[in-house]
Amino acid sequence: MAAFRIFSAMTMTTVTVACKLFLDGAQRTKTEGLPEFLELLDARKKAMDEGRKPKALITVSNHLSVMDDPLMWGILPYRYLFNTSNLRWALGSADICYANKPLATFFSLGQVLPTYRSHKDPVNGGLFQPSMATSINLLNNSGVWMHIYPEGRVHQHSKYQFRYFKWGISRLILETDETPDVVPIFIMGFDRIMHESRKWPRFLPRIGKDVTMIFGRKVDEKEWDEYRREWKVLCKEVGWDGKSDMPEELRTGERARDLRIRLTRRVREEVLKLRRSQGWPEEEADANDPEKYRNGDYEGCCDDGVWEKIPPI
Ligand SMILES: *[C@@H]1O[C@H](CO)[C@@H](O)[C@H](O)[C@H]1NC(C)=O
Ligand SMILES: *[C@@H]1O[C@H](CO)[C@@H](O)[C@H](O)[C@H]1NC(C)=O
Repeated sequence: MAAFRIFSAMTMTTVTVACKLFLDGAQRTKTEGLPEFLELLDARKKAMDEGRKPKALITVSNHLSVMDDPLMWGILPYRYLFNTSNLRWALGSADICYANKPLATFFSLGQVLPTYRSHKDPVNGGLFQPSMATSINLLNNSGVWMHIYPEGRVHQHSKYQFRYFKWGISRLILETDETPDVVPIFIMGFDRIMHESRKWPRFLPRIGKDVTMIFGRKVDEKEWDEYRREWKVLCKEVGWDGKSDMPEELRTGERARDLRIRLTRRVREEVLKLRRSQGWPEEEADANDPEKYRNGDYEGCCDDGVWEKIPPI
């Protein structure tokens, strides 16, 4: 385990420093709200230095390219890159990140949990797969920082419109003992570094692009109280103590489902606010409707300039 930690630290530091050199050296980057975000990371570090468990942190963003993670984290100053205990955990597509042994090793060293998407793997995918339980445990028991792309795949839209958000994020907010911090992030430009339509050499990221990361303020904790209370009431009614397997009623029952939908919508609204703040027009009325994407295992250009591809992370 000690050896694993050392290799993990080496991997994460090397990769993130490489990302930083690449972002700083080869792209034009712009951020908003980064100082406030770093204050949050500092508070987490302080807690850990004093032997306390930090408050769990969930960051949520749109997903523009196969390189978003880890490239995004190259935006952090160097002093944040040399200790993995305050770097993000992430969910990565198992079909890509865990496709073979070397990749699996690399991504597990990089604090990426294997995640199955139902459109690829209906048996292992979904809201109750093991990595969801692991995520809840990591947030609850260790107070980790976890980054989520709730769209669940790359979505390259000419106006940075989002897909609907998947509901896993709602479980992370509802099922921890303490309310986690939630910080929305809106990114632009990563799609130009790795556009899905790029030609040979496809594996090479492009340079000289404008890249923007807008960090929102931490959402007021009170925003989640009502949802979390509702969840507790539901659990109590069903008589679930949180220790045994989750009963069917709480998995697929209408009220649990409805609660997850509402909470996920609320989270999406926080990222949408940041998109609006950058002057983008209101999204299309059906942008958050899963039906719109039902047959959407597409790849390539559509009428409105959407490209879509399965992300590795
Ligand atoms: C990393 O940070 C944690 C918490 O701040 C600290 O306890 C630990 O000693 C640090 N590890 C290294 C290798 O500096
Ligand atoms: C959350 O953590 C507390 C201790 O901080 C523990 O008692 C509880 O069982 C944990 N719940 C889950 C879902 O891991």
